[in-house]
Amino acid sequence: MKVTIVGAGHVGLVTGACLAEVGNDVICVDNDKQKIEQIDAGVMPIYEPGLPELVGKNMKKGALRVTTSMEEGVNHALVIFIAVGTPPKTDGEADLSYIEMVAREVALHMDGYRVISEKSTVPVKTGEWVDRTIRLNNRHKVEFDVVSNPEFLREGAAIFDFMYPDRIVVGSGSDRAAEIMRELYQPIIERNFPGCNVLLDEVGPVPLLVTDVKSAELIKHASNSFLATKISFINAVANVCELSGADITLVAKGIGLDHRIGKSFLHAGAGYGGSCFPKDVAAFKKISGDLGYDFRLLEEVSRINQAQRELVVSKIKKTLWIVREKTIGVLGLSFKPDTDDMREAPAVDVIKALQAEGAKIKAYDPQAIPEAEELLQGVEFCKDAYEVACDADTLLFMTEWEEFRTLDLARVKEAMNYPIILDARNMLDPNAVRAQGFEYVGMGRH
Ligand code: UGA
Repeated sequence: MKVTIVGAGHVGLVTGACLAEVGNDVICVDNDKQKIEQIDAGVMPIYEPGLPELVGKNMKKGALRVTTSMEEGVNHALVIFIAVGTPPKTDGEADLSYIEMVAREVALHMDGYRVISEKSTVPVKTGEWVDRTIRLNNRHKVEFDVVSNPEFLREGAAIFDFMYPDRIVVGSGSDRAAEIMRELYQPIIERNFPGCNVLLDEVGPVPLLVTDVKSAELIKHASNSFLATKISFINAVANVCELSGADITLVAKGIGLDHRIGKSFLHAGAGYGGSCFPKDVAAFKKISGDLGYDFRLLEEVSRINQAQRELVVSKIKKTLWIVREKTIGVLGLSFKPDTDDMREAPAVDVIKALQAEGAKIKAYDPQAIPEAEELLQGVEFCKDAYEVACDADTLLFMTEWEEFRTLDLARVKEAMNYPIILDARNMLDPNAVRAQGFEYVGMGRH
């Protein structure tokens, strides 16, 4: 099928590359000329494992092209995905001006039936506005349908999530458009694409849920808000564990074994960050409020999340007593492992608060240092964890990168000033760390 993706960001580029990989003819459009030139030259605008290879392979095959021309993109495709950014405004509301702009341009260039699919995370009822915008600018009076097809991919695991999703959601008011979307996703639904490493007979097809447009839009915000709620809930329980002497890792295990709850997203720590949960929780709260429902639970979810960052700082103060002039070595800066994304990363708030207390900060992250340099001043960025440990008074683990799990702790201890580890992600084995002679502080655990 001929497909165009507007917006060559994380979601757009992954969607384009994956749809090309499963046999479609894809164009990615972006109005950022430099970005398009870079992608064309094999340089990805974001760090995502496997993406450069997938984009390169499909561009070479001719299954994936990139352009700055909306006209070319709109002429090319039957299905046009809108995957542009929806950054938050100061009140938490999503800024939909890019979506509107794209809808207008699509309408101006359409010369035949098109399915316009919302991929960006948008407030419920955005589909109605997109539909209206296209209708008002529909020069050639062609038929079209607007559908909502939210993306559930995680940064760092985006290609896997696209190829092996838990579900595909399509919100559509038209059977014709829903059928086209079903056909587009057929290889993924039927586990029938080159290199697919699961068997249809063993795992069954991917569930495709067809709903009305508004329900599909709501599913995305509700899913992310629910996951964020799960994280804040377990962080709150971690605090109760700490006050009572229980251990959150055991409590989470015990809770998660109930299959109605499930064991994922019960990992307590410094809280969630990234471009999705903080933004989507705030946006969903605002949308609900505008519609007349005061979703106070979500306000508490955000508050607990922010408090976790403050808790990390207070734990450092408790351990070091005086923070001024002390050196804190920070391991991990990105909001989670396997990404260079620093948006809403807990490490930023924690580092700034420690600097405000007069601490010196040394830091290392396997991918995010260039991004972090833009956000943080006065930090000594190091080439690896051992350089960070050198003369540090505390080593603070802020992101659970795999390489930090296998550090030579004897070497780390040797380099440090005081042997203190604050594990803000509960990623280390406290007994193993203590056995090396460290003082270990976790988040709600023994
Ligand atoms: C999230 C969702 O997981 C995706 O399904 C969704 O498509 C995406 O948002 C989006 O809306 O685009 P992402 O933000 O990439 O994906 O990252 P997650 O892996 O979900 O992690 C989010 C944050 O929660 C991270 O800061 C992580 O450290 C934290 N987290 C996660 C916890 O603190 N505890 C947990 O148990 C799990």
